[in-house]
Amino acid sequence: MANLPESEPGIYGFGKVASGILTHVFCVVFTLLITVLAKPGSSLFSWHPFLMTLAFCLFMTEAVLLFSPHCSPVRKLSHKTKGRIHWILQCLCASCATLGLAAIIYNKHVSGKPHFTSWHGQVGLGTACVVGVQCLAALPLLNHSLAKGWSLARLKRYHAASGLVTYLLGSASLLLGTCSTWFIDAVGSQAWYLAALCPFFSTVVIMSQVSNTYMTKKRLVS
Ligand code: HEM
Repeated sequence: MANLPESEPGIYGFGKVASGILTHVFCVVFTLLITVLAKPGSSLFSWHPFLMTLAFCLFMTEAVLLFSPHCSPVRKLSHKTKGRIHWILQCLCASCATLGLAAIIYNKHVSGKPHFTSWHGQVGLGTACVVGVQCLAALPLLNHSLAKGWSLARLKRYHAASGLVTYLLGSASLLLGTCSTWFIDAVGSQAWYLAALCPFFSTVVIMSQVSNTYMTKKRLVS
């Protein structure tokens, strides 16, 4: 259902539109920055930051923002079509994340380094597992007969709540990735603050979008 924004005071509504647009811009700029720094194809490692950023910063963020009543680039499309674009983007996200994870694991294997020793590596592995579970748990939304006894509304609520947790984990992994020596050496410690702003800002906007959508529905029901 396309949730049209309720009548919001001008400055509040403007703030929501502006922060949504800024999130699109930040995500594209951050993805371009990582692409330029990593130079995908220049080494096996280079695929890891590139594919992970593409997966979590671009595909996953856009897959959620497309439902935004304030800044969706496909606002005029029906909810059903938005749902289809959502799962196509999420499939792209899962595919890039799988390839990016395989690249770093294989890279560490060939260079004989130990696996999952950093916070980034451990949270990243957890994130990849949660993405897998989230994808499987979303299947009943495509084929409702897979979850007999569960209403569609309930499935959607759980999907949104667990999706938010997945998004938070993805952003935490990205943020921890920017704390790596590779990234800090590449951008310098001053520019790090600017770069780290992207996953932080987009998380706040996505959290606000998802919680507002569900609070609005609750208000309509009660
Ligand atoms: C949500 C996105 C990301 C996930 C899920 C993720 C996941 C992982 C995992 C699981 C490892 C450890 C692999 C192993 O030990 O065998 C790792 C390593 C690494 N990642 Fe990421 N990553 C992500 C994004 C990034 C980004 C954006 C960067 C760079 C800005 C980055 C830089 C690194 C580096 C330098 C290593 C090797 C050092 C270490 O193990 O900490 N990652 N990543």
